[in-house]
Amino acid sequence: MKLGILTSGGDAPGLNSVIRAAVIKAESYGHTVIGFKNGWKGLMNNEFIPLGRDDVEEIQYVGGTIIGSSRENPLLAEENVAKCFATFRANNLDALIVIGGDDTIGVANVLFKRGMPIVGIPKTIDNDLNCTDYTFGFDTAINIATDCLDRLRTTAKSHSRVMVVEMMGREAGWITLKAGIAGGANFILIPEVPFDIDEICDMIQKRAKRGKYFSLIAVAEGAKPHDYDEIVETHEKDGFGHIRLGGIGKFLAHEIEKRTGVESRVMVLGYLQRGGPPTAFDRSLATIFGVRALDLVECRDFGKMVALQGTKIVSVPLENAVAEPKLVGFDDYQLAKSFFG
Ligand code: F6P
Repeated sequence: MKLGILTSGGDAPGLNSVIRAAVIKAESYGHTVIGFKNGWKGLMNNEFIPLGRDDVEEIQYVGGTIIGSSRENPLLAEENVAKCFATFRANNLDALIVIGGDDTIGVANVLFKRGMPIVGIPKTIDNDLNCTDYTFGFDTAINIATDCLDRLRTTAKSHSRVMVVEMMGREAGWITLKAGIAGGANFILIPEVPFDIDEICDMIQKRAKRGKYFSLIAVAEGAKPHDYDEIVETHEKDGFGHIRLGGIGKFLAHEIEKRTGVESRVMVLGYLQRGGPPTAFDRSLATIFGVRALDLVECRDFGKMVALQGTKIVSVPLENAVAEPKLVGFDDYQLAKSFFG
């Protein structure tokens, strides 16, 4: 068989591990692989590089993706969908392996329904894809964010400041929740639960009465206070119509300082959460996903995404994976709340 592979959406640690696994497994089945450059853009424009064992052998510990990524959405124009199919035919491909988050897997689902043989692999630091307990990239992101909280606590404490730490997470607050718990944040604010600024200020003042003159607040970029729309600094949108987030941390630090008089600073973790080498967990998960995806291709079991459920690797229909996002549940947040203050 001849296979195509692409990585699309925000980069995540583990992308190179999955490429390595898929290419080496494909070769063991006797297949050849080409990697489309920069996500769907490469498929639309027939831009690719051949991938063999020599190209991928040393990449599993390197962040980013050797074939590039983008947020290009071919579904925005019918002619771009046609170009994707034309490239697929022109290269005599038998299958396409698509590695991405909800937007990417959503496009894969549409192209599969229109006749392209596709297998999906779940990637996103946000961990918000349905039907899989974990996406690769998430573990690295929460370890980085936890490390940052540990480091920021020392400055917050030394200077008796409030430190507001803004983390990634548009609709789902998984990174903020898990890193916030691990890093001992005094308040965790996530998109799923609108928050009350006065409640946070009250907590900061109660802490001061206990002699704790500093506080660490972990806030997801998509979190918002009650009675507010999304707080952002730009209204620029990507190819999938998402506004570029960022700004809630700054807003919150300003409000806290204004209302409590306690010096407050913001730290936006941003792309640091997606960069650098993947953790062992992410390398391992990505490798298993890559191998299992090739098993699906070998059986011609298309329209599926590999997934981790409990300790088992399963396959689920692409459409189920993107039916709705996987959000932080009530119980998870309640557990975190017991440590607020
Ligand atoms: O999808 C992952 C993610 O990290 C989101 O949390 C964030 O909103 C988005 O990517 C930002 O990525 P970019 O600026 O690269 O589009």
